[in-house]
Amino acid sequence: MARDPFRILFVCLGNICRSPIAEGLFRHHVEAAGLGDRFVIDSAGTSGWHTGKPPDERMCRTARERGVDITGQRARELTRDDLATQDLIVVMDRQNLANTRRLADDDEGASKVVLFRSFDPEADGDEVPDPYYGDMDGFSHVYDIVDRGCRALLAHLRRQLEI
Ligand code: 4NP
Repeated sequence: MARDPFRILFVCLGNICRSPIAEGLFRHHVEAAGLGDRFVIDSAGTSGWHTGKPPDERMCRTARERGVDITGQRARELTRDDLATQDLIVVMDRQNLANTRRLADDDEGASKVVLFRSFDPEADGDEVPDPYYGDMDGFSHVYDIVDRGCRALLAHLRRQLEI
């Protein structure tokens, strides 16, 4: 019998820079591995400031240059319902961690919320830096961090889910 797909949600502050590239790159690696039907992949922001907007043009351009298209995504705000319905919620920094866990009703919900960089054995810090107020180099840097992290996260989940 087919198992339900694993529901994974990436979360940052605005849902226009870091979590969209995480959603796009995780989907890219999942599809490359032929595992597209095993995951439901989404992203959201702890704020609703950019709800309905596409990802930041600088993040779209950085991704496009490396062969990944994220322009079809639209920002949405994280909801309390996400804490109940997602299997794993992967957040970009400690502020996101606190704000997302605050929405959980119980320890089980809170324990679904983890830092993105916790899966990367080569990580030189525990946060994905916010590139919004920086220059294009910051977006490339975020792309590299997120690409490595998504590969490590997928390897971790393949072991855990035995797929
Ligand atoms: P994100 O980046 O959380 O990676 O989407 C930001 C986007 C927008 C803002 C801050 C961070 N903002 O202040 O509007």
